[in-house]
Amino acid sequence: MVYLKIVLMAFIVSLSNAYKILVVFPIPGASHSILGQGYVNLLLKAGHEVTYVTPIFMQNPPANLRQINVTDNFQVFAQGDYFDIEKLLRKEVDLKDIHTLFKLMYTVSKSTLINKNIQKLLNDPKEEFDVVIAEWMFNEIYSGFAGVYGCPLIWSSSVEPHQMVLSLIDEAPNPAYSTNALLASGDVPPFTFMQRVSKLWEFVTARFYKWWVTGVETEIYESGFRSAALKRGRVLLPFSEAKYNASLMLGNSHVSLGQAIRLPQNYIPIAGYHIDSNIAPLPEDLQKIMDNAKHGVIYFSLGTMLQSSKLPQSIKAGVLDVFRELKQTVIWKFEEQLPNRPQNVHIVRWAPQQSILAHPNCVLFITHGGLLSTTETIYWGIPVIGMPMFADQFNNVDTAVHKGFAKRVDLDLETPANLKAAINDILGNPRYRERVKELSFVYHDRPVPPSKELVHWVEHVVKTRGAPHLRSPALDVPWYQKMYLDLLVCIMALLFTLHIIVKKLICNRSSVTTEKKRS
Ligand SMILES: *[C@@H]1O[C@H](CO)[C@@H](O)[C@H](O)[C@H]1NC(C)=O
Repeated sequence: MVYLKIVLMAFIVSLSNAYKILVVFPIPGASHSILGQGYVNLLLKAGHEVTYVTPIFMQNPPANLRQINVTDNFQVFAQGDYFDIEKLLRKEVDLKDIHTLFKLMYTVSKSTLINKNIQKLLNDPKEEFDVVIAEWMFNEIYSGFAGVYGCPLIWSSSVEPHQMVLSLIDEAPNPAYSTNALLASGDVPPFTFMQRVSKLWEFVTARFYKWWVTGVETEIYESGFRSAALKRGRVLLPFSEAKYNASLMLGNSHVSLGQAIRLPQNYIPIAGYHIDSNIAPLPEDLQKIMDNAKHGVIYFSLGTMLQSSKLPQSIKAGVLDVFRELKQTVIWKFEEQLPNRPQNVHIVRWAPQQSILAHPNCVLFITHGGLLSTTETIYWGIPVIGMPMFADQFNNVDTAVHKGFAKRVDLDLETPANLKAAINDILGNPRYRERVKELSFVYHDRPVPPSKELVHWVEHVVKTRGAPHLRSPALDVPWYQKMYLDLLVCIMALLFTLHIIVKKLICNRSSVTTEKKRS
């Protein structure tokens, strides 16, 4: 009887610990959705009730998951042809350009907020949440969700921590020694004098552009959220304050992947949380191909954003010729079959990336260098050839090269020749493999797996009503005070006054003495 009571109590307690969580990941891209689904799966497994704003629906959703459709966001990306390889190669679009990215991303946010499904969610007074988790992507507009529901906000940052996200919860890292995951130049510290100057320049221009777009972002924030908050009797914080009111930032980063910069206490690095340790078995045909590859398998995938069929013909044919000469087996994830395909090359439209990387015969991964692919390659300990094209990929690949387990090959007319040299180097030299195994150890050797940390910290924020104890004091100090510029002004003023007084005294004395002499 007592036992039953305890079980019942435990059940009731566990029921009341089910939180209502809003997960906002509206970027229309497969890798962003993988990150969003990582949150959703883990929080559902922990027994919470999740509402998931996404352009890509999860199949067979369980009962405690509700999905809110923002598929219209795909149109924003389609309009600009931002991810067209031909245009990227001709440099007609530049996704390293920070201003382009700001604009693209606030357009996505706007498209999310005018979506009728989202407006319904915002304007229905019966909708309440215990916490909002929103992906930070170049703007902080989604902080308004927390304002409308009057609940804590958690930012999810999808790359290594950088200037723009850290300044939301603490302060920007010093550009003199920090790489910036969002900006193109993948220089690695220690920087030369000129690199340090250019880092400062990047830092300042990013600030400037951020300031430049603030007006537009504020307008999107206001028109998206203001009236919905009012309907609930809540006053929305001004955008300039709401963006700094997050309780926590969960970062898709880890020291095995990036730099050991110092982090505020409300930044929790959880890279790899999306990786399920129970990986699916390979489809039968791939399993056979990989098992039979005596000399190992090279896996080639340029990710999900780019249509590789748009690769110029000469590059496709050249790459195929390089593969032809190898004794290794190649699995190429590609949207079309290619003519003159050699025996050792297998083209698949869809590839279970994790399962391929996990196979003991996998010896090399040729990748676009997205952060998820980089994380997975460290997880499984596979050396890499990176072909970066946009956004954080340059930085990811350069970091991997610097860490010693990768080579970079740019996508241009020289690609086939460079690829050949890189493959020979990596396969002929065991140090790449040894290095990535070391990093893989660092990745796995944590006291708590990232999936557990994610759930723990989300619950911690709800239990402590926004974790105000984690808030960095740096947020409330203006920059000029942090740099003691006010003290500097005081000292300069003092010195100047002293200077004037001394000058006056000397003048007076000399005039007194001359007068004395005269009299
Ligand atoms: C800022 O966030 C905290 C913690 O979530 C919350 O309690 C507070 O109401 C927020 N401030 C405003 C004015 O919305």
